[in-house]
Amino acid sequence: MLLAAPCDSCSDRARMDPITTALKKMYEEFPYPPSGAPEQRVGWDARLLLSYGKLARKKGGTLRVLDAGCGRGAGLLGAGMLQPDVEFLGIDINGVALAEAKEQATKRKLGNVRFQEVDLTTLEGLAVPEGGFDVVFSSGVVHHMPSPAAGLQKLREVLAPHGLLQLMVYASDGRAPLYRVVRALDLLLPRSVPLRDRLLVGRMLVQSPKADALPVGPWTDVTTVSDNEFVDRYLNVNETSYSVPQVWELLEGAGLRFLRWSEPADWNLEALLPPPLLELAQRLSARDRGALVEQLCWRPKLELVAAHQGNGPRDDETAASLGKAMLCVSPEVRFRTEVRNVLGGQRLEKLFLQIRGQAAIPIEGGPMATALVLARDAEGTFTGASFRDKLAKRGVPADVASEVLLELWRAEVLYAPHAVDLPR
Ligand SMILES: C[S@@+](CC[C@H](N)C(=O)[O-])C[C@H]1O[C@@H](n2cnc3c(N)ncnc32)[C@H](O)[C@@H]1O
Repeated sequence: MLLAAPCDSCSDRARMDPITTALKKMYEEFPYPPSGAPEQRVGWDARLLLSYGKLARKKGGTLRVLDAGCGRGAGLLGAGMLQPDVEFLGIDINGVALAEAKEQATKRKLGNVRFQEVDLTTLEGLAVPEGGFDVVFSSGVVHHMPSPAAGLQKLREVLAPHGLLQLMVYASDGRAPLYRVVRALDLLLPRSVPLRDRLLVGRMLVQSPKADALPVGPWTDVTTVSDNEFVDRYLNVNETSYSVPQVWELLEGAGLRFLRWSEPADWNLEALLPPPLLELAQRLSARDRGALVEQLCWRPKLELVAAHQGNGPRDDETAASLGKAMLCVSPEVRFRTEVRNVLGGQRLEKLFLQIRGQAAIPIEGGPMATALVLARDAEGTFTGASFRDKLAKRGVPADVASEVLLELWRAEVLYAPHAVDLPR
């Protein structure tokens, strides 16, 4: 059994529990993510996230975001660069990763991103903004804690009533092949052996050409990943993983509710099942539809948006209500165009639309292409009605313009921030 040791920077504070102490040691030697370079992550736009919840902030002012277990801060640095008017705080027990993250923030002159050494099991020393954080991110963290349920409860306590939590925990079914490597290694070398020795043996094990059960599912890169990734995946000192029903229970136990999947397209049964089966699946609850998808496809992580029980999803828009809605183009949408120079100007040859991490979709001419070019060039907010007017000026009939607008809304190319969250 490992002995409890005091947190380096706060020896007069509560003693760190043995599991957290061992995690700190492991991650300080092998910080995560493997690279500290800023990353643009799915679902890390504060205004977009808040637009998913029906409750809005009571008053405006700066949005405050917490990243609980930020590691090297790669996600937070990326979010801070893209959202300069939002204040970000990253906390972690990994002093080495935090020092590197602070250096990165200074180098990039990011005045809106701060880092602090705080243990999520106690949250001692954390300065919580009045009313709580508007958004909390926590990706790949609570499942390493001695009690993920207690960790989630702590996050709920610092989340504002209207606030949203972007959470990622590991999925047990999706990670099943990975756990074979973990169990095989545990048999070969006990966990009490120094981490570097286990890493050497682990590296050798996954090279075994006849061990054909190891590199399957999303884990075919088992022989090529960096040491940091290898340790995080296969040699982690503490890890729990969840099925979809278990994650529902975890959320409910912490007084939270599921609001949506961060990447709904990954959980869309319409794309997976033929119509007769889809009819059966449609009778299921949101939880069981998710549980069904995880039996059909590799889903190594459960990445979702959660809220307080008193919050809920925003009402869906209709073609009529969209006319009055104040809309923005989603920061998670990318447009790629290919143009040809022709006499007197340029001609659009190809248009591709990419939503979050999904594959880019080629758009073949017509009203949708016209609408997407308008969306690509749109700045700030606009009403649905003004967007339809612009389509009409480009020759799109009114009923088609309405349908196209609704389609852009449903595909999440457009979103409607809460009025109080609009940039000043
Ligand atoms: C897999 S890494 C994820 C890092 C980051 N969220 C990301 O997605 O790149 C898990 C992180 O959780 C941190 N962590 C684990 N237990 C923690 C605790 N009790 N309090 C704060 N951070 C913790 C680790 O130090 C590590 O940096």
